[in-house]
Amino acid sequence: MQNTSNSIYDFHPAVAELYDDLFFQRDDVDFILKLIGERRNWHILEPFCGTGRILLQLAAKGHFLYGIDNASNFLQRLQCKSYLLASQYRKNVDIRFADALHTSWSNDFHLIVLAANCFYELPTPEAQELCIRKAYNALRSGGFVFIDNDHMEGSLSESWQNYNACEAFPTGFSRDGTEMKSTRQAIWFDVSRRLIKFQRQTFLTEPDGSIQEFSLIQQKHPVSKLEVEHWLINSGFSILRVFGDYQATIYNKNSPRAVFWAQKI
Ligand SMILES: C[S@@+](CC[C@H](N)C(=O)[O-])C[C@H]1O[C@@H](n2cnc3c(N)ncnc32)[C@H](O)[C@@H]1O
Repeated sequence: MQNTSNSIYDFHPAVAELYDDLFFQRDDVDFILKLIGERRNWHILEPFCGTGRILLQLAAKGHFLYGIDNASNFLQRLQCKSYLLASQYRKNVDIRFADALHTSWSNDFHLIVLAANCFYELPTPEAQELCIRKAYNALRSGGFVFIDNDHMEGSLSESWQNYNACEAFPTGFSRDGTEMKSTRQAIWFDVSRRLIKFQRQTFLTEPDGSIQEFSLIQQKHPVSKLEVEHWLINSGFSILRVFGDYQATIYNKNSPRAVFWAQKI
């Protein structure tokens, strides 16, 4: 069966399970907690919250968490996982199924978390900049934004300039034996504008042997540190720190990441 989906995350519940099996790192969450420090009872929004890897850990510290995501299977999984929280923390979790770019983010937040390369989910620099403007409008005065991306500068890096098919997420098995095999193949790129278009394809084999094929064309704009800096300043943020990793090392040109901690003034 051939299928098309608007999301690489939402065509089957097994994808959310596999996501949690593959992506369970804590170092970025610990870093966010370190930046929050001793502050208590913050109202925190995480657009692109997925299965709650970050959101639930922040809720477990007593903060009020609001999540937005457009993959219903991921949000269902987040909801199930929230039952592992003590009940006084679980009631502080509020999630919404929506396209983050086309929904209101509400306002009065202490912190907005744009973590884990979430800008890769957006196809253009305009969409990424809009996200930063929406963050500014949704924060209370004095509130903070955390933005964490791979570090890259200049034109499209060579690692993206490749027309060969390569293995992609989701690839692996879920617990019931559902197998997913995915590839990603560039079909077009623009080196100077740092844009790439991919054909993504997944073959999913159910435990009963039936096979489904999902395909999607997706565009990415790997964002640069300079762009994020520029958009933050244009939106009215004061950039307090740019880190190059989750150990609070100050950013330099060889840093693996560009992690912004900025404040609405
Ligand atoms: C790589 S996952 C990251 C999830 C989570 N932040 C984490 O660190 O584990 C990206 C998430 O963004 C969501 N997403 C992608 N585009 C979106 C959009 N336009 N609006 C809302 N969510 C979106 C996907 O459904 C997915 O759950």
